[in-house]
This record gives sequence, C-alpha cells and structure tokens, in this order.
Amino acid sequence: MGPQTVDYAATGEQALARIAQASELDALEQLRVEFLGKQGSISGLLKTLGGMSADERLAIGPQIHALRESVSTALAERKQALEDAALAEQLSRDTLDLTLPAPETPCGSIHPVSQVMDELAEIFADMGFAVATGPEIEDDWHNFTALNIPESHPARAMHDTFYFPDKDAEGRAMLLRTHTSPVQIRSMLQHGAPIRIIAPGRVYRSDSDATHTPMFHQVEGLVIDKGIHLGHLKWTLETFLKAFFEREDIVLRLRPSYFPFTEPSVEVDVGFALVNGKRVLGGSGDAAGHGWMELLGSGMVNRKVIEAGGLNPDEWQGFAFGVGVDRLAMLKYGMDDLRAFFDGDVRWLAHYGFSPFDVPTLSAGVGTAA
Ligand code: PHE
Repeated sequence: MGPQTVDYAATGEQALARIAQASELDALEQLRVEFLGKQGSISGLLKTLGGMSADERLAIGPQIHALRESVSTALAERKQALEDAALAEQLSRDTLDLTLPAPETPCGSIHPVSQVMDELAEIFADMGFAVATGPEIEDDWHNFTALNIPESHPARAMHDTFYFPDKDAEGRAMLLRTHTSPVQIRSMLQHGAPIRIIAPGRVYRSDSDATHTPMFHQVEGLVIDKGIHLGHLKWTLETFLKAFFEREDIVLRLRPSYFPFTEPSVEVDVGFALVNGKRVLGGSGDAAGHGWMELLGSGMVNRKVIEAGGLNPDEWQGFAFGVGVDRLAMLKYGMDDLRAFFDGDVRWLAHYGFSPFDVPTLSAGVGTAA
C-alpha cells in the first residue's frame, strides 16, 4: 500500500469530527494520544515520509504536516472550550454569601485570676493605692519573723511552709512565701511612710483539696499613715467589695480574730442569701434564709511590725488585710472547684475566661461614673 492511497483530507475530517464530539477532558486526552502520541496514527503518517522519494515527499509532506497542524489546533481549542465550560459550570454552582459572618480566628482568653487582679488594681487605684510586688521565694525573716511570728511560734507550723534546703547569704531559711504579708515589710523598708498599696501575687502552702491548692493567689492591702483607725479599714473594705461585686447591698460583719501581725485582728464576713441552693452575696447574713461567709483577714498593723518596717509606731499607724484572689473570682464568676483554675484545660478557660478585647467592666465604670 503506497502512501498515495491515504486520503489525508478525509482522515483530517474524521479526526476533527471526533475531537468536536469529545465532551470530557479525559476523552479528549485519549484522542490526542490516538492521533499524535508516539504510536499515534498521524505520527505514523509522518514516519512514512522517510520511505518516500524526494518528489513524493514534496507533494505529500505538506498535506501530512497540515493534517497534524489542524488536528493539534483542534485539540487545543477543544481543550480550552471544555475547561471554560467546566469553570463556568462550577461558578454557576458555587455560591458565596458575603453577608455571612467571617469564620472566627482562634484567639486566647484572659484567665479569671488575671481578670480579677486587674479589677482589684482598678478599684484600689481609684482609692489612691499603688500596686506593690515582692518575691515569691522569700526568707523566713520577711515571711515570719518581721511579721511577729518568731521561730517557736505555732503559726509557722500552721502555714504548711515549703522550705528550700539551702539558706541565703545572710543565713536565713529560704521558703516559698506562704502569704503576701511580707510585702508589707518590704514596702515599709523601701519607701517609708505614708503607704497605700495593694500587693497581688502567688503564694504557696503544702495543702491540696477541693478548696485548697498548693499554689494560690492573694492580694495584700496596707495603709500606713497618721491617725489611721479601724473605721478606715471598714470603709475601705466596704467600698472595695461593693465595687468589686457591683452590688450596693454588700453587708460586712467584723469578728474579733487573731493574727500575729495585726492587733486588734478582725475576720471579715460578708452576708449572702441562698438562692436556688447558690450563695448570692448581698444583704445581712442575719436575715431569714441568709448566712455569713468568711471572706478575709485584716486588722490594725501590730506595733512590732511597724518597728520591723523601720518606722516609729508612736508616729505611724495603719491597717492591713489579706484576701484570696481565687476565692474572689469564684464568688464573682461562679466557679465551684478551685483546682480547675490551675488544670490548664482550655475548655474551662473557654467557658469562664475573658476575651482579651473586652474592656474590663470596672476600668470602664469605676472613676468615670458620676
Ligand atoms: N496573711 C494572712 C493570711 O494569709 C491574711 C492577713 C493579711 C491577715 C493581713 C491580716 C492582715 O492568712
């Protein structure tokens, strides 16, 4: 069979017809292989040129090349058309609702303890208190001795102290502070009088159950000035608790108590009502269906403590108080297990935590309210 017997025009027409009919990209690719692939029919025709005489090649070559050209152009055009159609079809099917809220980007949250510490700083700042800090690794002089808790004092045992094996350069036993009260001493020694500070921070005691964790948070309050008396303490605590719990009907009960570093010492209880089995702060604890809840320890700063702070107790007086920050958070925001505060479970934080973009109610409220 000579090359002359091939009808190039008819071959081309057939090929173009099949290309025009291909309705899928896969089918089109199969046609490309069938015509132009290594073993393809048109590739085969091109190879026949090699066995022809120069005259034949001159006559037939252009026909085969034109055939290959038209088929490959048709393939490319059909491919483009099928792709355009697929895109148009997808666009008509996909809808984009621009009125839907944008997907939320993950974002951290403020721990309730941090939130409450911020609130405390805000409230006390309005009363003229600065925020003071002290080290969590303390020596036993600042933590105990200077606070009128001598070596043999039973209060040292009461505190379930974590001690370090080594002593510091001055031979003092090192420990994790058991309360924020050593900041009282540090503030007096550092700044002298008068003083108005709160000192929030971590404290440590070897104790663990549903209401105790080995690490917890306290805020210390200290005022040293002239002519300070118990009335100032009561007013300050009342003003603070009303602002913190955002209730005007907070009622306090001061009970005589004992702390080595205050004299007299008062335990402060706050009245609550039982509502559906839950304690809601407010009202007198003596009313029917009400009760008193122990909230914090306080008192007039002991003369010996003022002396340890380098001040003359005949000249300067003051009051101090100490409150559990975690406990304040639980009461205000309704958590019931202290241990969950420190479990590091993000689900708990998502439930109880605060958005970093929220303006704390108190920074917006206290100070700007008429
Ligand atoms: N430091 C005491 C405690 O941790 C609380 C307290 C502070 C009491 C200041 C009186 C005055 O229990």
